Amino acid sequence: MSKELLLTVDNVRVEFPVQGGVVRALDGVSLEVRKGETVAVVGESGCGKTTLARCVLGLQPLAGGKIVLEGAEIIGTPRDIAERVGMVWQDPYASLDPKWRVSKSMQEPLILAGKRRPVGEMFQEVGLDPALQDRYPHQLSGGQRQRVAVGRALALKPPLVICDEPTAALDLSIRAQILNLLRDLQLSSGCSFLYISHDLTTVRFLADRVAVMYFGRIVETGPTEEIFRNPRHPYTKALLDSAPSLDKLMELPEAPPGEIPDPRTKFVGCRYASRCVNAQSQCLVEDPGPTIEDARTFYCHFPVAELQTSQPASV
Ligand SMILES: Nc1ncnc2c1ncn2[C@@H]1O[C@H](COP(=O)(O)OP(=O)(O)O)[C@@H](O)[C@H]1O
Ligand SMILES: [Mg+2]
Repeated sequence: MSKELLLTVDNVRVEFPVQGGVVRALDGVSLEVRKGETVAVVGESGCGKTTLARCVLGLQPLAGGKIVLEGAEIIGTPRDIAERVGMVWQDPYASLDPKWRVSKSMQEPLILAGKRRPVGEMFQEVGLDPALQDRYPHQLSGGQRQRVAVGRALALKPPLVICDEPTAALDLSIRAQILNLLRDLQLSSGCSFLYISHDLTTVRFLADRVAVMYFGRIVETGPTEEIFRNPRHPYTKALLDSAPSLDKLMELPEAPPGEIPDPRTKFVGCRYASRCVNAQSQCLVEDPGPTIEDARTFYCHFPVAELQTSQPASV
């Protein structure tokens, strides 16, 4: 994997004025994606994942911070970003026009860019029978529709592909097929992937690095296997404890215990303190800064104990 940076999200803030206050959907999010790398953003519903995707696509004005893709800052210009960032939404109907034959949806990015590719080849690339190309989205199964949406996102071989919970709306029985497709395409396309999910199990299968998000902030980030083997932030551990294991991919994760705060909360201390099993009085008043351990960074005053890699010799 190249060390060259593709995407930098730097201290990004997004605020939504709502009745009774402001929702800080992103409250200082920083993230990097390198060329050819798959980075997963994981967290419960409402933590800001889709807002982050919208920011990278130039669809969401920022209240602070900046986003740089291939050396150029993204400032609300979605049209030219479309050639550089492919997007797979949770609901394929968000990517596919129900009135268009699916071949047209898949080819549209190419046409807009003045390019051409044989449509049959594009269908085969995402595991679809080219005989389906004249159908409309409602004439396909959910899995086939998501394959069309993936084909559309990858049509121009953009340097970055964002997948926002691409399997969440699918039947459990076909989730694994779409995950396998994404993994094959990761390997064959050379694109970087930003893979967004509330489900850590699928992330382990796909991602090189994981960023765990809680209430508009990334609370822990590091190489996937290290995060799974030895989570340091108590929220990461709670997410892991609630996730089914890889051999139970067909089961849905449970929510970690504790009540999610009101989204309008302005946090003073650690945002996870109200649910955290390790929380002490310091956590309520002092926002934890970063702790950096090798390739890992986490934000916690009282982290989960580090796993010892070798057992001490018994006497
Ligand atoms: N357009 C909007 N107006 C007001 N609040 C919003 C809007 N979009 C998102 N939010 C709020 O921002 C927070 C993050 O939402 P979102 O990015 O959709 O989270 P996720 O994708 O992780 O479920 C939530 O509290 C959500 O209710
Ligand atoms: Mg979302």
